[in-house]
Amino acid sequence: MSSYDGFAPDFFDRVDGSDDAEFYRPERLVTHIDDGAIAAVGSLYTELGITGDVLDVMSSWISHFERPPSTLTVLGMNETELQSNPMADERVIHDLNRNQELPFADASFDDAVCCVSVDYLIRPLEVFAEVRRVLRPGGRFVCTFSNRYFPTKAIQGWMMLDDRQRMNLVALYFDRTAGFERPIGQVRRPAGLGDPLMAVWAATAAASDS
Ligand SMILES: C[S@@+](CC[C@H](N)C(=O)[O-])C[C@H]1O[C@@H](n2cnc3c(N)ncnc32)[C@H](O)[C@@H]1O
Repeated sequence: MSSYDGFAPDFFDRVDGSDDAEFYRPERLVTHIDDGAIAAVGSLYTELGITGDVLDVMSSWISHFERPPSTLTVLGMNETELQSNPMADERVIHDLNRNQELPFADASFDDAVCCVSVDYLIRPLEVFAEVRRVLRPGGRFVCTFSNRYFPTKAIQGWMMLDDRQRMNLVALYFDRTAGFERPIGQVRRPAGLGDPLMAVWAATAAASDS
């Protein structure tokens, strides 16, 4: 069975299927969610103890930590955005829709995060498998998202779903990726107060389990 069985053929299509490098060429030094949703991301990272060597995939100029982790590697599309990220120690330009292979050695990071961006991945299962590979035993991959997105670049499937269904979709990505424990989903900020904030994360098997 293919990992993508059960998805409609056009699920991962986008209105703008052109090279992502074009869309992300102009820097966007903006926030994509409101202050309350940003605070919800930061408090989740603090609560989970995301404090070690961290990879922020699909990153920009802001990584939302309340306090910088020991080291922060940011990977994204726009050099100016990444250079403007004050918490970053290492910056990597890399298009995950062209090449899902992460340019890092196995077990390089304690944890990984992805904020308001998982909806742009057209090969999410390969990306999740790569995040799994670069995480150390017990490392978490924390995906957070809201209900805002670039409509021409989000996958069609994402736009058809509501917030709860999107949580289920991200949980499914974890379920279909070997090596992750059972995913946990939480609504960290309900709709109605401003931008809602949903989170789904999973840990890699601890050393003693593997
Ligand atoms: C909505 S912004 C979110 C940025 C940041 N994570 C945040 O929380 O503000 C989407 C980000 O995803 C990144 N991105 C989009 N497509 C990508 C791709 N194909 N490969 C890697 N990063 C990508 C872009 O660089 C952009 O900064």
